[in-house]
Amino acid sequence: MKIVVIGGTGLIGSKLVEKLRKDGHDTLAASPDTGVNALTGEGLAEALEGAQVVVDVANAPAWDDAAVLDFFKTSSRNLLAAETAAGVGHHVTLSVVGTDRLPDSGYFRAKAAQEDLVKSGPVPYTILRATQFFEFIGRIADSGTDGDTVRLSPALVQPEAADDVASTLADIAVGAPLNDTVELAGPEAFRLDELARRLLSAKDDPRQVTADVHARYFDAELDDRSLTPGDDARIAPTRFEDWLSRSGK
Ligand SMILES: NC(=O)c1ccc[n+]([C@@H]2O[C@H](COP(=O)([O-])OP(=O)(O)OC[C@H]3O[C@@H](n4cnc5c(N)ncnc54)[C@H](OP(=O)(O)O)[C@@H]3O)[C@@H](O)[C@H]2O)c1
Repeated sequence: MKIVVIGGTGLIGSKLVEKLRKDGHDTLAASPDTGVNALTGEGLAEALEGAQVVVDVANAPAWDDAAVLDFFKTSSRNLLAAETAAGVGHHVTLSVVGTDRLPDSGYFRAKAAQEDLVKSGPVPYTILRATQFFEFIGRIADSGTDGDTVRLSPALVQPEAADDVASTLADIAVGAPLNDTVELAGPEAFRLDELARRLLSAKDDPRQVTADVHARYFDAELDDRSLTPGDDARIAPTRFEDWLSRSGK
């Protein structure tokens, strides 16, 4: 089966490409670095020739409100049009648990727009909504940093390993389109401030983490329901402490 991974050189994309290749699939890692640009359309038609499945795990290079909205809307439109022309039978998109609950965030408005285009588009689809990757917690801490202090919401999160997200995407990509949204979350819930504190402490990072219920997460205030999954979510196996000890700190 030929599978094209848009964003195939990124964190999730490179893990997914490796897994699909190991399983014997003809897998193309597509990104601007490999001559395929979902935003301009460059190289898309050639990349999709003969493909049965496209998995979109691209991310916007700039996250200001207008740029990120344009990225997810334009790239999704370009992909769906190119897939229709190439006869692709399954479009898989990676989104975020809680996307519809954070309208104050430009990033989440852009992900919601991406989901809407996929759901109303012409190609059979599956949307996987994942929770925060363990690998992303450092960036979350950076976003709340002011000097030596990191101000973060104490809202509940249920993060997971990028490796587990890639494995689930690999399963979805080779299955039939669900024309639906499924959720994936890690095996344990944490307070976001506590999670960042544990990561920074494991890395001997001297910044102090302070809980603040009004601290914004990519422009949105959080509560315990904002980023946590529903009852039907699939649960990824890797625990935070195991990931931490394996990640070489
Ligand atoms: N971070 C989280 O905790 C989290 C949680 C749930 C879901 N997600 C979703 O997961 C997805 C992937 O995230 P990630 O962290 O793996 O991203 P990443 O490591 O930043 O990788 C982004 C990928 O997108 C590619 N890309 C950028 N512009 C492109 C374009 N114009 N056309 C085609 N490809 C382009 C990049 O290619 P180059 O390297 O060539 O620039 C790279 O391969 C995102 O959609 C995000 O919303 C993230």
